[in-house]
Amino acid sequence: MDIEKLIKEKGYIDQETPKGEDLVNAIRDLCREKNAIILAHSYERDEVQDIADFTGDSLALSQEAAKTNADIIVFAGVHFMAETAKILSPDKKVLLPDLNAACSLADSCPADEFKKFIKENPGRTVISYVNTSAEVKAMSDIICTSSNAVKIVESLPENEKIIFAPDKNLGNYVKSLTGRDMLIWPGSCHVHRQFSVERIVELKKQNPDAKIIAHPECEEPVRIMADFIGSTSQLIRFTSSDKGNKYIIATEPGVIHQMKLNDPEKIFIPAPGHDATCACSECEFMKMITLEKIYNSLKYEKPEIILDKNLLKKASRSIERMMEISGK
Ligand code: 13P
Ligand code: SF4
Repeated sequence: MDIEKLIKEKGYIDQETPKGEDLVNAIRDLCREKNAIILAHSYERDEVQDIADFTGDSLALSQEAAKTNADIIVFAGVHFMAETAKILSPDKKVLLPDLNAACSLADSCPADEFKKFIKENPGRTVISYVNTSAEVKAMSDIICTSSNAVKIVESLPENEKIIFAPDKNLGNYVKSLTGRDMLIWPGSCHVHRQFSVERIVELKKQNPDAKIIAHPECEEPVRIMADFIGSTSQLIRFTSSDKGNKYIIATEPGVIHQMKLNDPEKIFIPAPGHDATCACSECEFMKMITLEKIYNSLKYEKPEIILDKNLLKKASRSIERMMEISGK
């Protein structure tokens, strides 16, 4: 039986997979036995966040992956995040419980087209968002995340010309704050571009005491309405330190789990999308990771992130540069 093929094609779950509390205990036992840690992004399912050793945004997860002493990292997130963990910890085994967990934003910047774009626009420093493939990272000078993008851009001399990829919304947000010469790749995330300004305005009318908070991947009209803009960890920190008690959340609603754990008495309302009939603000890729898949991934130590050595070396330069500017 080719477990890796099965996991890849179907998100393999074997018949002996325990259920309920037994499943949680079995995952904990496997982690102890194999010296493994589970890192989870804050968009993951609540129960996945609860079992993780560490939850956070993409920068915090990269920092954690770089410093862990574990032999195995189980990444509860999407493919580019697990790939980044592998680049930062090449000697460790990095597992992604479902290899189908992709990212529409990373996919909006294919490596061959990006290579052409760089060639057509010479003399610019290439800053890429962490939501990119290892190939795109290898073509980039510096990587950034949503929490350090402004800092990374501002670390360059004022007259330096920049290519920024792949998110046009984050790119335009950073450009508006820094005033830098930035040529921006026209990519975006399907989750963050579907929020409806009209329906958010309606919601705000019904809840005038609510603050609107948004991820910088949101479109400009949503960002303009926001009382606070930040990465997922920055949004979570904002609601826990802010004096208010009601928030409209314009990002993937997985973040509400940590917000509620911090402040059970506060009210968190997911921002509505254009389509009132679907839960379109959920990132289906993030939600592909389940406890059952984490258990099977730990048990079989598959599917594993494997990267070509040369590619890994090239991609690590731009990530290391980010870590130096941003702090490890
Ligand atoms: P963070 O940098 O806030 O973790 O965001 C990553 C992401 O995928 C947002 O959609
Ligand atoms: Fe990618 Fe968007 Fe999902 Fe974030 S929310 S992982 S950018 S598809």
